[in-house]
Amino acid sequence: MHSFQPYPTELLEINPFSKIGTEWMAVTAGDKEHVNTMTASWGTLGVLWGKNVVNIFIRESRYTKEFVDKQDTFSLTFFDMKDKENKLALKYFGAVSGRKENKIENAKMHIDYSANGTPYIDEGNLVLICRKMSATKLLPEQFLDTDIAESWYKDGDYHTMYVAEITEVLAR
Ligand SMILES: Cc1cc2nc3c(=O)[nH]c(=O)nc-3n(C[C@H](O)[C@H](O)[C@H](O)COP(=O)(O)O)c2cc1C
Repeated sequence: MHSFQPYPTELLEINPFSKIGTEWMAVTAGDKEHVNTMTASWGTLGVLWGKNVVNIFIRESRYTKEFVDKQDTFSLTFFDMKDKENKLALKYFGAVSGRKENKIENAKMHIDYSANGTPYIDEGNLVLICRKMSATKLLPEQFLDTDIAESWYKDGDYHTMYVAEITEVLAR
């Protein structure tokens, strides 16, 4: 496989709806010793506060949240989802908690680090390195659509919304 190359954010040509919603992504954070990853299929790409940003949404219960909260940066790794191995790995990352298993090792995947020390998954084909700008816990009183609390938060496991600047894009 070709190695990752830096890619200008402005030249990215992806459909965020299918890329995030259908193909999913791995949210990865940590340091040189401890890294965790989880699958996410909710998120947005856009522009805010003069930066190219992502929004991601992580429920309180996720082990990955502890890693994202501790670090200034995290990564989003996208994969060739036509490859069955990748699909299986993302299903696994989204079904099991890193509190119980070393998911990356068990999936036979590997961590690499960007120039600023952010971990990402080497088996991907597109990586966004992201610097946290804000973290906002979603609360029931904020929902204007009354279906939201009923449909998504019956268990009280609310998401925190992270807005993060895309500081680097790696592609191959
Ligand atoms: C397709 C898919 C999409 C998911 N999207 C999200 C998401 O956007 N936010 C979230 O908090 N959990 C999401 N999850 C659930 C987490 O990936 C799952 O709970 C995972 O086991 C958490 O692992 P951790 O405890 O190691 O962080 C998704 C799971 C799947 C399978």
